[in-house]
Amino acid sequence: MKKSYSRVRGTSDFGPSDSARIQTLCARARRVFFLYGYEEIMLPVLEDAGVFVRGVGQETDIVAKQMFRVSRQNDGEHSDVVLRPEGTAQVIRFYLEHGFHKKGPYHKFFYIGPMFRGERPQKGRLRQFTHIGAEMIGAVTPWADAEMIQLAWTQLEILGIGEKELKVNSLGCAEDKQRFAERVREILSRQQADLCPDCRRRAERNPLRVLDCKQSDCRRVVKESVLRERVLCPKCESHFAHVLGVLDRLGIPYTQDPFLVRGLDYYTHTVFEIESPRLGAQSALGAGGRYHTLVEALGGRRCPAAGFALGVERLLLALEPAHEPPAARGVYVAAAQDSLRSEAFYLLGSLREAGIPAEMDYAHRSLKAQLRQAQKSNYRVAVILGEDESRQGVVNVKDMKSSVQKTVRKEEVRALCTELTRAEN
Ligand code: HAM
Repeated sequence: MKKSYSRVRGTSDFGPSDSARIQTLCARARRVFFLYGYEEIMLPVLEDAGVFVRGVGQETDIVAKQMFRVSRQNDGEHSDVVLRPEGTAQVIRFYLEHGFHKKGPYHKFFYIGPMFRGERPQKGRLRQFTHIGAEMIGAVTPWADAEMIQLAWTQLEILGIGEKELKVNSLGCAEDKQRFAERVREILSRQQADLCPDCRRRAERNPLRVLDCKQSDCRRVVKESVLRERVLCPKCESHFAHVLGVLDRLGIPYTQDPFLVRGLDYYTHTVFEIESPRLGAQSALGAGGRYHTLVEALGGRRCPAAGFALGVERLLLALEPAHEPPAARGVYVAAAQDSLRSEAFYLLGSLREAGIPAEMDYAHRSLKAQLRQAQKSNYRVAVILGEDESRQGVVNVKDMKSSVQKTVRKEEVRALCTELTRAEN
């Protein structure tokens, strides 16, 4: 016996019905992005590792432990290519490479595509997953933060995610963040013994990540000695107050979560996460925030930006499986005898040319079995070719909804099928 293969751990196969759900979901998301003035971009899956090392941060889990490196045999170029683990740093690379900073004060982009992280797979945590993401580059006003959160929230509403919780926080500007990180490092160096092994390491290298830890001892330390040390400068304080004021006015419910810091180093100012209570341990449906130092880190001038990404596979988990019956599929051409299969085949072409989905049997099934298949696959119309009818230049056209059958001349088939299927397309 030859070895059989399974999909790679942490990846998903989506069959026809899940693929259709994802397509519907992406089509809805695209419509909302256009309403908000975003333009779609499509960027490669392969990217220079440096984009993420410099953009997302050397010390983050994503960069330090999870990037998939791609090497080519006999590759003369000594490039370090990875499968992109996220979209934000890549969009900034794109923005700079194509000189968008010279083309207008700010730009709004969205993207839909796969991301790769070598995480330990579990429900809702995959090694290949799909982002629906958006980035607004160049706008500093708090209205932009508010619009970004409103957009993420509206996307989830339109996709049918009723139960969800929005958490927001502000990390302050780069200087606020730096000051706070140094203070946290100092405090935690005295409390090492109370931290989990991961946080003992983080406390020195990336102290703000300790705020994100879910271990109860780490949470206690953070609550008792760290949080009160966070002070935003007056400008950042008033920026955040403005954002919260707009959310209040829009009626978008939120909780302020001082523990929220996010696992990517580029964030500054407003950060947010939207969770679903249906999802268990991996509860974030989407997340984002401002990042004012990333453009500079990737070789541009310092420039404000903000964005978010939703995880498509988590959306599928949070949504009820669709109970709607699949849409009726067009025309099934059934042949009573094998000798009529050629006529059936050319009729398919003529129907498809008229924009009508059309199918026939390729398994030499009996007429009865073909009609059963047409019923099962939810065809709207069955065109039945019989030998006697063929000689007389006519065919039978059956409306599968009403079961009414008509005999029409061959030249009339296309028009009748168009009429019967029009309401469905
Ligand atoms: P992120 O929080 O790493 O942010 O990912 C955003 C969303 O992607 C998460 O909330 C989750 O729904 C989904 N996700 C992340 N990792 C996985 C995984 N291993 N398996 C399945 N789903 C996952 C970012 O990547 C930022 N680039 C978002 C952003 C855009 N910030 C500003 N602009």
